[in-house]
Amino acid sequence: MLLEIDRVSVRYATPRGVLNAVEQVSVGVARGETLGLVGESGCGKSSLGKVIVRLIEPAEGTIRLDGADLGQLTRAQWLPWRRRMQMVFQDPLSALDPRKTVRRTLTLPLEVHRIGSSAERRERVDALLHQVGLAASLADRLPHELSGGQRQRVNIARALSLDPDVLICDEPVSALDVSLQAQVLNLLSDLQRERALTSLFISHDLAAVGYLADRIAVMYLGQIVEVLPRDELWQHAAHPYTQLLIESIPTRGVPLPPTSSAELPSPFAPPRGCRFQQRCPHAMPVCRETPPQLTTVGTTHVVACHLYGGGEAAAGPVTKTIALPGRHGAAQAEPAVEPWQAESTRSV
Ligand SMILES: Nc1ncnc2c1ncn2[C@@H]1O[C@H](COP(=O)(O)OP(=O)(O)OP(=O)(O)O)[C@@H](O)[C@H]1O
Ligand SMILES: [Mg+2]
Repeated sequence: MLLEIDRVSVRYATPRGVLNAVEQVSVGVARGETLGLVGESGCGKSSLGKVIVRLIEPAEGTIRLDGADLGQLTRAQWLPWRRRMQMVFQDPLSALDPRKTVRRTLTLPLEVHRIGSSAERRERVDALLHQVGLAASLADRLPHELSGGQRQRVNIARALSLDPDVLICDEPVSALDVSLQAQVLNLLSDLQRERALTSLFISHDLAAVGYLADRIAVMYLGQIVEVLPRDELWQHAAHPYTQLLIESIPTRGVPLPPTSSAELPSPFAPPRGCRFQQRCPHAMPVCRETPPQLTTVGTTHVVACHLYGGGEAAAGPVTKTIALPGRHGAAQAEPAVEPWQAESTRSV
């Protein structure tokens, strides 16, 4: 794995006490792979993204890039590594300096890292603009003179300017209107193919993640509850929470079952046992007592759920045939058209 996240926790000290935003998360991203990270608002996705690029420090655990433990690096040693991991954020406007033109924004990282002569930097910026589908004439504009989609393209170009090994995209299209979402997702997909990017794609939108990612990690209340290959998502999602997310994507027309706030577990005091127990249609007595561990249910498919023997982690990986306990029968059919694709054909 190029990027390895090993038992990482993120905690925030708040006036209400310590909030466990990420709890003992382990997951890796292989070179050239896109790992999608999906889950509801507040489950800890951004905290995990930020801790990887050291915008925040982990409370525990290690993060390795190419085998090197990033937590052991001094701030001075960190700079060349920082260049190897870049992040694209949700809000394209606030991520850009309002006083800097597009060209200035894209040239600055090259200057900071002393890359190329000024003529070479100019050439490189032109190539980047072209790569993200921006006209060269936009180079002299300020952020407020650009559309939302153009701004996010500038952010993506900036992240790519240093030729990173790993690109972390945190809800890169959520702030854009739907037609632009499809365009920017297509751009990311093209870039992944052309540049063989290794990336972590964070989104609450399972359809977008299912389109872009090679593997998908599903997060619930600070923990990863399932990791599965994209090809298995629609028919072999095993965790009741993943199944719920699938059922609730817009083209399926089944809304996420309402939950009263009293039902929602608090990140300040997560329930004993499985964190999903209050909302789970299959909850069993063991779920109230014992936290399920990630268990192997396929070659590259793991799930933390007692339905699949999640309490047996100490016994090592077990391979089982998955009999889906889904409320709508075993196999979930893949939607003929992804929701955003439907939008894209309509509006691009
Ligand atoms: N700086 C902070 N201080 C205190 N609590 C925080 C801070 N940042 C995030 N949190 C809390 O940590 C938890 C995880 O937040 P995080 O932003 O990582 O979730 P998320 O999955 O990215 O959500 P969203 O989909 O809304 O972006 C939430 O309960 C959030 O309120
Ligand atoms: Mg977030």
